[in-house]
Amino acid sequence: MNSTPDVASRSTTALGPQLRRRKSINMMISDAENNAGAGQLRRTLGMWQLTMISVGATMGTGILVILGATVPIAGPAIWISFVIAGITALLSAVSYAEMAGMVPVSGSSYSYTYATMGEGLAWICGWCLVLEYAVSVAAVAVGAGEYVNETLRTFGMELPASLAGGPLEGGVVNLPALIVVVLATLLLVRGMRESAIVNTIVVIIKAGILVFFSIVAFSAFNAGNFEPLLPMGAAGVTAAASTVFFSYIGFDAASTAGEEAKNPKRDLPRAIMLSMLIVTLTYVLVAVSAIGAREWQWFDGTEAALVQIVGELTGQPILVLVFAVAAVLAIASVVLTVLYGQTRILLSMSRDGLVPKVFSKVSPKTGTPVAGTLITGILVAITAGFIPLGALADATSIGTLFAFALVGVSVMYLRKKQPLATRTFKVPFYPITPILGVLACLFLMSQLGGETWVVFGIWMLVGIAIYLGYGRSRSRLGRLSKQDYIATHVGEK
Ligand code: ALA
Repeated sequence: MNSTPDVASRSTTALGPQLRRRKSINMMISDAENNAGAGQLRRTLGMWQLTMISVGATMGTGILVILGATVPIAGPAIWISFVIAGITALLSAVSYAEMAGMVPVSGSSYSYTYATMGEGLAWICGWCLVLEYAVSVAAVAVGAGEYVNETLRTFGMELPASLAGGPLEGGVVNLPALIVVVLATLLLVRGMRESAIVNTIVVIIKAGILVFFSIVAFSAFNAGNFEPLLPMGAAGVTAAASTVFFSYIGFDAASTAGEEAKNPKRDLPRAIMLSMLIVTLTYVLVAVSAIGAREWQWFDGTEAALVQIVGELTGQPILVLVFAVAAVLAIASVVLTVLYGQTRILLSMSRDGLVPKVFSKVSPKTGTPVAGTLITGILVAITAGFIPLGALADATSIGTLFAFALVGVSVMYLRKKQPLATRTFKVPFYPITPILGVLACLFLMSQLGGETWVVFGIWMLVGIAIYLGYGRSRSRLGRLSKQDYIATHVGEK
């Protein structure tokens, strides 16, 4: 049976078939090979750099501050919360790995959805990715002001209030946030090879500091701190897991590098899985060592638990400085890698005609989408510098989880429709794994508050209006003749 929607030409006005039109995997891959004539991205990234992109986007400020809020909820079993959140992320990561190996293009879950569930959901997915990437990166960057101040305080200095926060926080501009985003933008414009080198160095430093914390904390390890393991019951452990999930967001960043990887089909799945392994092991190590060093009641609400433990155990106040610098670096590498991902997703969407063409123009000199990166960077810098994004930041989790769920569905769709297609990585225990992955995402979405859902709903309405007013009539797929459209799907069921 040919499931190609019967209508593909621009002359068609019916919305239903337009929303269902799918972009074939063959067309995606041939587009990726020459960026539909808009200049080529350079293939410079090996498996190690790809892994570091995902670790860079994932290991952010979450782990540095999250124990204070979650140990009181879970008790000593907080490390189990990290394992549960890690498994939830892993259930989606394996789906990403299968799709990234099969459709190694820049658009990540936006492209996977376009190949399976059609243009309407693909646009919704891409719009959710703007929440996951651009909005969250602006929200993350806002923290830079706080940590720069912490660093300065160890030298007896402080930023003037006017430069430490935007107008709604009683200041004028969050200068550190603005600077971090501008520097990341300039680095991305310069080239991906340079960006990957800087990112790898920063990731090694921030992971090194977490390992250093664990070594210090293990020196005061008291196994008695783990008893009783579940003072708040199993419900406390799962509640903490949904908060801790935030610290795993970002593993999908490597999947936006499909057109810059040297060997994407082989390396993207490996990088996604390896980054999950590195991040989960590091987080569990940090959680176990922290509880070993301090009784769980000690953590009650303290934001800077890690730095306090190291300070108390070593008696070195200088370490406060080390941790504050690590936090700034963590923010910088999240900003760099997540901004990178956003520009590549927009590149794919622009190539498909759903956002303006300027986002897919690649400079022959740098091999990067210079104009798109500058526009994205400027918008994010302004947002981070002037607007505190509290309410929208929570909505990023819903957007992320929704995109993750769509990837699980995409895997199942393609297994059914294209069972014989080459897959360099296959989701284990199919179909249980993607089904559990989708259910886990929907469950975590349901745990988020009503206010967050309202913000998400408004975001979606804006996205739908943009599609109807812009993308619907400009979609490149919509401009193909019916024959050409069908020709691009030859060989698909
Ligand atoms: N996973 C990122 C962090 O923990 C968002 O900061």
